[in-house]
Amino acid sequence: MPPAKTLAAGLRRRKYLASLVLLVSLFLLILFLISRPRSIPALSNPALWPQRTCDYAGGRWVPDASTDSHLRYDHTCKEIFKGWNCIANGKRNGRSLLHWRWKPAGCELLPRLDPHQFLERHMNTNIGFVGDSLNRNMFASLVCMLRGVTGEVRKWRPAGADRGFTFLRYNLTLSYHRTNLLVRYAFIKVICKWSASPDGGPLESLGYKQGYRVDVDIPDQTWADATSFHDILIFNTGHWWWAPSKFDPIQSPMVFFEKGMPIIPPLLPPEGLDLALKHMITFVNKAMRPNGMKFFRTQSPRHFEGGDWNEGGSCQRDQPLSSEEVKEIFSVDNNGTNTEVRLVNQHLMKALEQSTFRVLNITHMSEFRADAHPSTTGGKKHDDCMHWCLPGPTDTWNDLLAANLAATDS
Ligand SMILES: *[C@@H]1O[C@H](CO)[C@@H](O)[C@H](O)[C@H]1NC(C)=O
Ligand SMILES: *[C@@H]1O[C@H](CO)[C@@H](O)[C@H](O)[C@H]1NC(C)=O
Ligand SMILES: *[C@@H]1O[C@H](CO)[C@@H](O)[C@H](O)[C@H]1NC(C)=O
Repeated sequence: MPPAKTLAAGLRRRKYLASLVLLVSLFLLILFLISRPRSIPALSNPALWPQRTCDYAGGRWVPDASTDSHLRYDHTCKEIFKGWNCIANGKRNGRSLLHWRWKPAGCELLPRLDPHQFLERHMNTNIGFVGDSLNRNMFASLVCMLRGVTGEVRKWRPAGADRGFTFLRYNLTLSYHRTNLLVRYAFIKVICKWSASPDGGPLESLGYKQGYRVDVDIPDQTWADATSFHDILIFNTGHWWWAPSKFDPIQSPMVFFEKGMPIIPPLLPPEGLDLALKHMITFVNKAMRPNGMKFFRTQSPRHFEGGDWNEGGSCQRDQPLSSEEVKEIFSVDNNGTNTEVRLVNQHLMKALEQSTFRVLNITHMSEFRADAHPSTTGGKKHDDCMHWCLPGPTDTWNDLLAANLAATDS
């Protein structure tokens, strides 16, 4: 064979080998990418943060065998709403429900918020909780933890807040802004108030007589100013969108308005929620300072067994649920009393996917804690299987918040 030909054949062979190597590497890369554990999300998506190193959202509760005091604060903290004070109210497991720690899958125990460190780290900072009574529960937990370090506080109501405290030595302000739907709503009884036109307009012709006007693009005034006041905001909404006892579909339906006009054809509440979330996320992005930090807390689960709250449902458990029980009670397919939580989360995830909000995913850890509601000691005619005992699981929500904030600083 002439040398030129051998050379050409050699080159061809080498080219062939190179392509083969390239193909095999590509194949291996794809294999690696699809088999990668899900707990390592794309770093570029801040909504998935802080799961960089550890996915705190999934895991299990393990017994806390430590001999340290399990009480992070006691029943004398004045910020505990009466019905949530399980120890003072004599709930059977009011103390033993504290003997559990959250163990995220594949990581160490979720560290406990160190109140002293928290105060030091967040000097000259304003932190606002915006949402329904479940966010107040979380706010009260944080106030009680921090008050254990310093009782020097000024009680006041900054920026439309329902309640608030400044920890004077640290100039750290915490406040709770009460809002059920995030957006403004009001009961409308008189027909001609629905719309400007004297004959009543399209809603009347559709048969609406009274109900709640919900303006999906107007923030509740209890928190509209909180966006410019606070450095850190923690939002929630959910329970009130699934509350037929308040927003009865027939007697007092939610009627959605946008730009001051009724939305025709009328929307159902889940569709109204999507629209309200979209508008409120846009509003907060515009109104908050660029380095402000926004969290959205996922939905808190309820644990009514044997009926809903108004059907004699109760939650008389002394221990967290097993994974099997959680699966059964909350599976959307089973359509049980408490599935609301996962339905709400589906809407939240859709709205937050493209946003710069950080998701505080407390749902799954809380789904186990059927043992930690005030139950019959809530001081109501019915069992309270919705709010949480204080001290209790919402302390762990704040551990999660603190872990998130600490990861940002470093
Ligand atoms: C929250 O975390 C749980 C457990 O990892 C997960 O199944 C769920 O999809 C998450 N929910 C949201 C709204 O991110
Ligand atoms: C206290 O903190 C707020 C919020 O960061 C800040 O605006 C204010 O100047 C601080 N006050 C003092 C005396 O440092
Ligand atoms: C779920 O259950 C409720 C009553 O508890 C019922 O009204 C509703 O139609 C059910 N939904 C589905 C999808 O089966």
